[in-house]
Amino acid sequence: MPLHTRIVKADQDNPDPEAVKSGAAVILAGGTVIFPTETVYGLGANGLDQDACLKIFTAKNRPADNPLILHISSLEMLDGIAVLPDSSVRQRLAHFWPGPLTVLLEKTDVVPAAVSAGQPTVAVRMPDNRLALELISASGVPIAAPSANLSTRPSITDSQDAVREMSGRVDLIYDSGKTSFGVESTILDLTTTPPRLLRAGSTTVESLQEVFGSIEISDAARGTVESNVAITPGMKYRHYAPEKPFFLMNSMEDFRRLLDLDLGHLGILAMGADEVCSKDQCLRLGSMNDLRQVGHNLFSAFRELDRSDFNMAVIHPFPENGYGLAIMNRIRKATGHRVITTEEVLELAGNSNQTL
Ligand code: TXA
Ligand code: MG
Repeated sequence: MPLHTRIVKADQDNPDPEAVKSGAAVILAGGTVIFPTETVYGLGANGLDQDACLKIFTAKNRPADNPLILHISSLEMLDGIAVLPDSSVRQRLAHFWPGPLTVLLEKTDVVPAAVSAGQPTVAVRMPDNRLALELISASGVPIAAPSANLSTRPSITDSQDAVREMSGRVDLIYDSGKTSFGVESTILDLTTTPPRLLRAGSTTVESLQEVFGSIEISDAARGTVESNVAITPGMKYRHYAPEKPFFLMNSMEDFRRLLDLDLGHLGILAMGADEVCSKDQCLRLGSMNDLRQVGHNLFSAFRELDRSDFNMAVIHPFPENGYGLAIMNRIRKATGHRVITTEEVLELAGNSNQTL
């Protein structure tokens, strides 16, 4: 049975108190709310209510063994749900919060099984978004929320996509426009020494190293391997993928060679940074000098690809430091780790569309 979904317009930087109250009432009644964070939209429910959290899995078609992040609005909220490894951690977290950093901590008994999915840990973050913070604080409970997309689809960075994809599946959607980052939070495991990066994201590794010292970076966090033995359970599932065939070019040189050809005629969409991809058949993602902007446009570009008439798409590689680490991780996953040369692209495009 589809749910009746209320769409509530709300300014994410300066929300109307009535709009906040409507969402909090749904959370406290055990319902589900799609709300903006600074990274991507989240699909939230009362993080202390097992039955409410189970609705998140149904709404997203999410496998039950993939745990949820608890979103908090103050450091005090942390105390009930997690055990800190030492007293310095609080201050270090205050350095990044509110902001796009999720940390793994030892959980307390208060955390429902649906949230931790059988792990001894709980993932926690304080989002840097005024509507999200006010919603959590008005609810008075941590809000459990994965990204608001259907499982395996790209994360949602624009409320219009949330309305398109999730109407009838949740109780309320905040129509609050575009999120500011566009790539999900960085996940850092603080239960190990040194701390371990589980997912590259909107907080850079370099900034984490300044505050936490040395950090172990797993291959899975780089996105260079797809692990079957999940360090972060979510890693074993297909993620962020457009439905159309999508490939990473093996080098910038090959990408430029391909651009010299008439791609539109071949049904190939080229995606890349403005400076590299200036032709008509290019979907321009922003400047190489502002990778945050590229990250911001990436998921909506995947969705645009699926709505377009193109048969397939290619993207060029980005430098893998700073914000580029998260971008390349998402591209590797979205392309299913398929790296391709100009010759191979032409071979594919030359065959009938059915084989693409
Ligand atoms: O930016 C974000 O982090 C967004 C916004 C909505 O906050 N949320 C998000 O949630 O990306 P989700 O569920 O799509 O990704 C969270 C990842 C999943 O891969 C999940 O497996 C992992 O975090 N995770 C959550 N709890 C965990 C735990 N206790 N142990 C290991 N991994 C965990
Ligand atoms: Mg997700």
